[in-house]
Amino acid sequence: MKKKLLPPRHIAIVMDGNGRWAKEHGLPRIKGHEQGAHSVEESIAACLEAGVEFLTLYAFSSENWKRPQLEVQGLMLLLEHYLHHKIEEMNRHEIRFQAIGRLSELSSNIQEQLEKVRRATAHHCKLTLTLALNYGARHEMIDALRAIVGKVIQGALTPEEITEEVFSQHLYTAHMPDPDLLVRTSGEHRLSNFLLWQLSYAEFYIVKKYWPDFKKNDLLEAIEAYQQRERRFGEVR
Ligand code: IPE
Ligand code: IPE
Ligand code: MG
Repeated sequence: MKKKLLPPRHIAIVMDGNGRWAKEHGLPRIKGHEQGAHSVEESIAACLEAGVEFLTLYAFSSENWKRPQLEVQGLMLLLEHYLHHKIEEMNRHEIRFQAIGRLSELSSNIQEQLEKVRRATAHHCKLTLTLALNYGARHEMIDALRAIVGKVIQGALTPEEITEEVFSQHLYTAHMPDPDLLVRTSGEHRLSNFLLWQLSYAEFYIVKKYWPDFKKNDLLEAIEAYQQRERRFGEVR
């Protein structure tokens, strides 16, 4: 009989479809984003129930600045609101919070809030919740490369010492295992510049549902489907 996999240690989600959800409900796009924030709670609850250790959510890409200014502003306000209201809940559920991306390009207010929540929850270890903000995998790799080249120039590292492990340790996700499962809502089959290096061997799970309709049981179903997969990592099994 085929052995069932353990639940994923790390789930990454491309939370997509807020705009289409809003359009279908005759609402402005920002209402879709507001509704999408509830789905974050649903996914956190599923991870806590299933014993998932890391949940990484794609919340704002380095390309999303190209959206209308009003939508970008609305998303930033929503983020501020979320960060302001969630510390207590994160502490209650023993959630460690962090953000990845070029955070220095976000407003100073948001940077301060991110740091505040990170510090307030840093001692927890049940679930690590990571928000990808102003995140782009290509930016991340360029940033890693710059840091590594800097060390080589200083003589702290030789080119031969640059291994996959060393490169991984210079990414924003250093100290996190690679995602086992990638979920994307609203049916699109693309990565949109998300965790290109880290997703090398992740299992993909794509659902038609828009993100605001994606509930706790939907993520539990994704986890169940993952557990039925056979991961080979290039070997013969
Ligand atoms: C995902 O929903 C949220 C962000 C990218 C911030 P979208 O806003 O991309 O929704 P669609 O794809 O337009 O439906
Ligand atoms: C990816 O969704 C980014 C986030 C979910 C934050 P997009 O909606 O921006 O991706 P594309 O434009 O469909 O590739
Ligand atoms: Mg989209």
